[in-house]
Amino acid sequence: MQSLQNKRILVGVTGGIAAYKAPDVVRRLRDLGAEVKVIMTRGACEFITPLTLQAVSGNRVHTELLDAEAEAAMGHIELARWGDAIVVAPATADALARFAVGRADDLLATVLCASDAPVLLAPAMNQAMWRDQANQTNLQRLAERGYRTVGPGEGAQACGDTGAGRMSEAAEIAQAVADCFASGILDGRHVVITAGPSLEALDPVRYLSNYSSGKMGFALATAAIEAGAKVTLIAGPVHLQADARAQRVDVVSAQDMLEAVMGVIDGADIFVGAAAVADFRPVTSESQKIKKTAAVQTLTLELEKTPDIIAAVSSLISPPVVVGFAAETHDLLEHANAKMQRKNLQMIVANDVSRDDIGFSSDSNEVIVLTRSEQVEMPKMSKDQLARELIKLIAQQV
Ligand code: C5P
Repeated sequence: MQSLQNKRILVGVTGGIAAYKAPDVVRRLRDLGAEVKVIMTRGACEFITPLTLQAVSGNRVHTELLDAEAEAAMGHIELARWGDAIVVAPATADALARFAVGRADDLLATVLCASDAPVLLAPAMNQAMWRDQANQTNLQRLAERGYRTVGPGEGAQACGDTGAGRMSEAAEIAQAVADCFASGILDGRHVVITAGPSLEALDPVRYLSNYSSGKMGFALATAAIEAGAKVTLIAGPVHLQADARAQRVDVVSAQDMLEAVMGVIDGADIFVGAAAVADFRPVTSESQKIKKTAAVQTLTLELEKTPDIIAAVSSLISPPVVVGFAAETHDLLEHANAKMQRKNLQMIVANDVSRDDIGFSSDSNEVIVLTRSEQVEMPKMSKDQLARELIKLIAQQV
């Protein structure tokens, strides 16, 4: 069963009697781990109140295209950027017709035009309307644009007819939303990912480390799993819950991380070094706490280089595709390029850690990806979205 952990789902509700099932759809999406925001058309508000959907989604319901409360009064763009996927349940015949021609005269239709996210439609209408040629043509046009459909089911209808046109059950719709993220581009592949910082002990109570949160590596693990891969996630000390489908190995130091990677790398297809491994460690780690005495005014630490894990992987006899990260504060591309050559990587993801709105502990990132043949600039987006984009690029390298 696919999960929707860390996914942001927009639910569009249009004006049909099946709108009474929309709160259940929202609930099921949340059960799968999604955060949900709801957009209702005017017709939908005739069947069910926004308050009901606000209560079950835990978020304000959006109904107006011209919304003075939206930041910069561009609610449609904010919502379109927010959603990782959009599901319209129910989608009436009129809604399908309007989406098919690209109307942008209410909030839901406009968000659909403005979003690149996958769209799932759960049609619901009278059986004769469902079979109607115009409706079928609209669906076909939407399918050509990549819109997916779940249902409709067959059976007794609210109008008394029997036939195809009943909206699918809420649980089935929620699962179909989750399936939108299952691309299959890494089916059967083994991906090894390092994440988080390493921690290098000075003595039993002190260490050298860095601000890495591990979020990027953990998001990559989920994105790779959704793409069909088996994932081994080797994590330094972080406060994150890993995707339950990943095989997680917890480590502390760079040396531990190297050993854990080498223990699982044989036969792996892809290695992603997203960890911020300490470059240096104390030459000696004291077995007892270093004491502060009145006589000691300065303390000099002698440091030595840690093993370079990613370089060790790319120098294996038959290495996997190796992807590195370059966190830089200046001359981003120059340093990233040099690192890609020096460590013999297929791809490097470069980001500017001097900015405090992206990178390290932040939930978003803005990166430039270098491969051996191209340079791809990725605008600022959530680390979960970025992970999915990176996995698409990485899959092309295998
Ligand atoms: O050399 P630098 O630390 O800037 O390189 C960053 C890349 O190298 C990252 O992908 C990081 O995970 C990897 N790395 C490593 N082992 C080290 C240092 C960095 O795998 N000791």
